[in-house]
Amino acid sequence: MIHVYDTPRELYDAAAWLWIQAALDRRRGQGGLVGIATGTTTAPIHETVARLYAVAPFDTRAIAICAVDDYAGMEAGHIASCSERIRRQLMRPLGLAEEQALLPDRFTGSDAPLQYEDAVARRGGVRMQMLGLGEDGHIGFNYPGASFGEGAHWVDLPQSTGDTLRRLYDLPAEKAPTHGLTLGIRSILMSRRIVIAATGARKAAIVRDAVLGPVCERVPASALQLHRDVAWLLDKEAASLL
Ligand code: GLP
Repeated sequence: MIHVYDTPRELYDAAAWLWIQAALDRRRGQGGLVGIATGTTTAPIHETVARLYAVAPFDTRAIAICAVDDYAGMEAGHIASCSERIRRQLMRPLGLAEEQALLPDRFTGSDAPLQYEDAVARRGGVRMQMLGLGEDGHIGFNYPGASFGEGAHWVDLPQSTGDTLRRLYDLPAEKAPTHGLTLGIRSILMSRRIVIAATGARKAAIVRDAVLGPVCERVPASALQLHRDVAWLLDKEAASLL
């Protein structure tokens, strides 16, 4: 399903309501986590969730979240780490306890991906995974060429990811992360529902390739064509080549 909004703002509002709906949907026995991706597209969605909560608080006790990916080797609490951004953007504003979130920065060592994936499964899997889209088609840290069959795994990050992070967070070169942990395409496809958001003309070509192009590992987001419940949330510019 493709939803096109006139402005990014309208997209952020719609996505925030979907987030709240998914987070509160704890029908008996359903369980499951809401999967979070951090980036410049999802940050304003999270801010909107926090703003809505501030004016009309809802019961957050049953909310449980997890992160799709995180950088390795960052200082604990560093603002650029995905786990820390999730704490700042969602957990603190919504008053969520640490036990309500499964965050990769608590998992270390070569077994960390397996342990992370097991922990997600033990909490009922991912009920709704919200994603952003990289200009090269990456989702989480699944870059072009990533195998669709992979579960959670360690990834060597491309230079472009380190550069973006340095630009956004003013990090010195030696502090830019070089690897990270991500849920794989196979794990993402196991989510019951996927919501992916993209805005701006820069994303138009990759949105077209992911939605209309062949399903291939060169375009990681094209794997979403294999899932039966995916909502693409696009602004007019990102949707302009569809
Ligand atoms: C990053 C993250 C993704 C994010 C994507 C898009 O590398 N690992 O989880 O969704 O790129 O980011 P943005 O929304 O800033 O374009």
